[in-house]
Amino acid sequence: MLAALGSLAAALWAGLHLRTLLLGTFVFLFFVDFLKRRRPKNYPPGPPRLPFFGNFFQLDFQQPSWGIQKFVNKYGNMVSMDIGLLNTITVTGLPLIKEVLTNPDHGVVNRPLSPLRKHMFKKHGVVMSSGQEWKEQRRFALMTLRNFGLGKKSLDERIQEEAHYLVEAIQEEKGQPFDPHFKINNAVSNIICSVTFGERFEYDDARFQELLKLMDEVTHLEIGFCCILFNIFPEIMKLLPGSHQTVIKDFEKLKMFVSQMIENHRKDFNPDEPRDFIDAYLKEMTKYAGTVSSSFDDENLVTSTLDLFLAGTETSSTTLRWGLLYMALNPEIQEKVQAEIDRVLGQSQRPSTDHRDQMPYTNAVIHEVQRMGDIIPLNVAREVAFDTTVAGYYLPKGTMIMTNLTALHRDPKEWATPDTFNPEHFLENGKFKKRESFLPFSVGKRVCLGEQLARAELFIFFTSFLQKFTFRPPANEKLSLKAKISAAISPVSYRICAIPRE
Ligand code: HEM
Ligand SMILES: *[C@@H]1O[C@H](CO)[C@@H](O)[C@H](O)[C@H]1NC(C)=O
Repeated sequence: MLAALGSLAAALWAGLHLRTLLLGTFVFLFFVDFLKRRRPKNYPPGPPRLPFFGNFFQLDFQQPSWGIQKFVNKYGNMVSMDIGLLNTITVTGLPLIKEVLTNPDHGVVNRPLSPLRKHMFKKHGVVMSSGQEWKEQRRFALMTLRNFGLGKKSLDERIQEEAHYLVEAIQEEKGQPFDPHFKINNAVSNIICSVTFGERFEYDDARFQELLKLMDEVTHLEIGFCCILFNIFPEIMKLLPGSHQTVIKDFEKLKMFVSQMIENHRKDFNPDEPRDFIDAYLKEMTKYAGTVSSSFDDENLVTSTLDLFLAGTETSSTTLRWGLLYMALNPEIQEKVQAEIDRVLGQSQRPSTDHRDQMPYTNAVIHEVQRMGDIIPLNVAREVAFDTTVAGYYLPKGTMIMTNLTALHRDPKEWATPDTFNPEHFLENGKFKKRESFLPFSVGKRVCLGEQLARAELFIFFTSFLQKFTFRPPANEKLSLKAKISAAISPVSYRICAIPRE
């Protein structure tokens, strides 16, 4: 009896103890949070926030821009919001976006590293790295892309050849409804694959198709709810099931594929004759062998290669899928593009980027596809490298900056019909007209590294498609412009008919 009472008391005491401890911890964390959240003077305004969660519950993650517009209307062109413990600023409007992205005095050149990315890739590579490491990796990647573009086989030729294979594959559909998604993905990916791995993959290569599916899945799930939770509570979410675990597994598989490619290259690597990006990188590594001051190491080799592979596939491919959709939905515009192709190229000449200047209408249509497709609505996030002041607002080092490209691309003051597909936006007296409020590749020191390549891909693939086919909705099926929320906003899957023109 006494013993039982004793243990009860002990249990009570322990329970109380635990509760006191928990309460104490909570008060302490609350206090730390409070201190952390005290805003510096002149910090941009924003909606009121909760402890720990910040503005998390005020955001609607089902919407492409998380339903933030109401805050922009209320607080202006620089809105501060906290997502968990992450301090973010959303910037709206061309002058301010340009100022933030291009003025080196503001140092908005780093990348915020989400816990998920950190878990997978540390801070390496081109896309997510910062500081000296980023400078070295980016410079090298740019130079190598350029060298392989100007080498034996020009990028134009590679793209023409691939476009030819893709046209053949589409011909096999014989005008019947089909989903063009993974054929286009494969063809586009082959361009960057031929540069990085020195090879292309057949469209019926099951292993490569599997990788493309993983890539598609990752871009979709990475911005989903579970991954957002992972980024706020990584230690807890690591232990829980959910789609973040799928993303981690997919990334592992993609990394494995790249590592395998690298191992194969090492076997017959000849520093005097680099065949592709991986060879060039292996050669660069030998320059620094034994020194610790360089970022050219095994980890950066894998991550930079994977970065090019990922960044170079989903983006251009998604844009082309938007393009086919807009053509099938706007037959009179499609006809005008085909008339221009017939005039400048005819049926037999292969399109190349040299033809772009002679084909203002086609060029305008491609730009309009990019404007309406608007595949990266909030740009890729940047981070402030040192304390700075923009437009009178103080931004401390480490603040995350999002720039609203959708607001530019749909600005009613800039575009005659902001929400309607209209190539005239990019034309003036029959000539192509550049537009300042068009920034799908972003601007500044971190501007898309593949912009030239992507623009060549879009022009050559798109022109080749319309040279050979007319795209129509399948009989009795309605094509929809509904978007699938993803790291690169894509159309929901659709089927289309490619009617041969000859
Ligand atoms: C239509 C196609 C594409 C679009 C719309 C696009 C868009 C973008 C955007 C908005 C950024 C962020 C820039 C910034 O932070 O200011 C970016 C970065 C990047 N893109 Fe692209 N991109 C496309 C195709 C490509 C291709 C084909 C490659 C292949 C080489 C590529 C490689 C990269 C890389 C490596 C970065 C990171 C650059 C850095 O952080 O320094 N992109 N892209
Ligand atoms: C970006 O701008 C668009 C169009 O004005 C708006 O609908 C969206 O909510 C904005 N997103 C953010 C994050 O400010």
